[in-house]
Amino acid sequence: MIEHGTILKSAEKYMRTRKNDVHIPISYSYAMKLADNYPEADRDVVGAAIILHDIGWYSIDEEDIFKKGFQSKNFMKSDVRYLHESEGVKLGTEVLKKLGYADEFIEKVCYIIDGHDTRDEARSLEDKIVRDADKLWRFTLTGVSVASDWFKQTPSQYCARLETDIIPLLDLPESKEMAMADLEETKTALCADIL
Ligand SMILES: [Fe+2]
Ligand SMILES: [Fe+2]
Repeated sequence: MIEHGTILKSAEKYMRTRKNDVHIPISYSYAMKLADNYPEADRDVVGAAIILHDIGWYSIDEEDIFKKGFQSKNFMKSDVRYLHESEGVKLGTEVLKKLGYADEFIEKVCYIIDGHDTRDEARSLEDKIVRDADKLWRFTLTGVSVASDWFKQTPSQYCARLETDIIPLLDLPESKEMAMADLEETKTALCADIL
């Protein structure tokens, strides 16, 4: 079992953009929770992939990130979306190489990072866990607070969007259960039925 904290610390510089330093730790915890249900999944790969999947945003101008990557019409297929994936592969490879990981391990991690937002289908069980954990943080109070601003929506508009647009995209049954439970809690905390 590898030490995921070392990877997180090594990527710290890249976490200080687009609130990755909030998104990544929360999503990491969901990834580990999901992996507990799937002992056959490679936890080392899952952990490294969720920690590094979004570090490519570091290479992109922050105004562009939000204007093109979140608020534009076809934002999930925008240029900056593809760019953060390819930059993530590049920077992720650098981080893992510096820490001495084997090429085979790095390839497995990058196979998940590559296309993580723009692909329609998951490539493996590990990929399913990472893709779901990547979305699950948004259902928390913190996730709604942060991401509603990215999309220029009110918290309750964003909660509604999570329900209609994001829950159907979750792959694993455990993820759907967690998402619905977290969303209920978040909506209650934010008085989303009133505001
Ligand atoms: Fe991403
Ligand atoms: Fe992400």
